[in-house]
Amino acid sequence: MDIQLNGVSKSFGDQLAIDHVGFTINSGDICCLLGPSGSGKTTLIRLMIGALKADEGMIQLGETVMPSMAMLHNIGFMPQNDGLYEDLSADANLEFFGSIYKLGKAKLQARITEVLKLVDLTADRKKLVRNFSGGMKKRLSLAIAILHGPDILFLDEPTVGIDPILRRQIWDQFQMIRASGKTIIVSTHVMDEVLECDRAALIYNGRLIAYDTVPHLLDQTENGRIEELFLIAGREGGVGHA
Ligand SMILES: Nc1ncnc2c1ncn2[C@@H]1O[C@H](COP(=O)(O)OP(=O)(O)OP(=O)(O)O)[C@@H](O)[C@H]1O
Ligand SMILES: [Mg+2]
Repeated sequence: MDIQLNGVSKSFGDQLAIDHVGFTINSGDICCLLGPSGSGKTTLIRLMIGALKADEGMIQLGETVMPSMAMLHNIGFMPQNDGLYEDLSADANLEFFGSIYKLGKAKLQARITEVLKLVDLTADRKKLVRNFSGGMKKRLSLAIAILHGPDILFLDEPTVGIDPILRRQIWDQFQMIRASGKTIIVSTHVMDEVLECDRAALIYNGRLIAYDTVPHLLDQTENGRIEELFLIAGREGGVGHA
């Protein structure tokens, strides 16, 4: 399912957080939203999942105009701040979030076992989340996001605060999920994570300053560092080609 954004704008009060953004995310891609803090990545994700409604423009998942309740079972979302219940075990968190999707008890239990294995938390499933490390919480959030087998995954800075080894493991999991035909949208401000992605959308001050395949973006730089494209945009007042 492609994701199409057309002239999407969103303001908070008098602040324009997303400024006429338009691009299409191809089904089966890992698409990265790259941009400095406050550039609008989380807002863009919340618009795409339908948690926010655009002031202007249109967002479609396949043929469906967002926001759409009917799309919820197709969408997995890993928020920037985990949103886990600290006083519940990993199992109980999964049961709680799983109950939203009405999978049926037996199916849900089987699926919980499956996703716990995938994120390597089987041994810790009875532990209270409050006793989890940061990395364990991230992995549990990922397990929740993929629990109902969504076609599209939105991951908002999934590796912040994670050590390099675990980061590698998490990215291996993303690549596995992608290989199974899913579409992944992942926000980051870590440049080397961009190299894991098929395409990157560079967001700067709420604007899309570039959207291309990662090799094409690298071609536009002098030293092969994608952050250069932000420096250029900064000099030109954020007006780049989009
Ligand atoms: N609910 C809100 N109410 C008011 N302003 C908001 C709200 N959400 C976001 N903003 C503003 O919109 C802009 C974009 O914020 P957003 O959270 O989308 O950035 P971000 O790229 O995700 O940043 P970070 O990398 O720090 O997570 C910021 O200036 C922020 O202050
Ligand atoms: Mg954010």
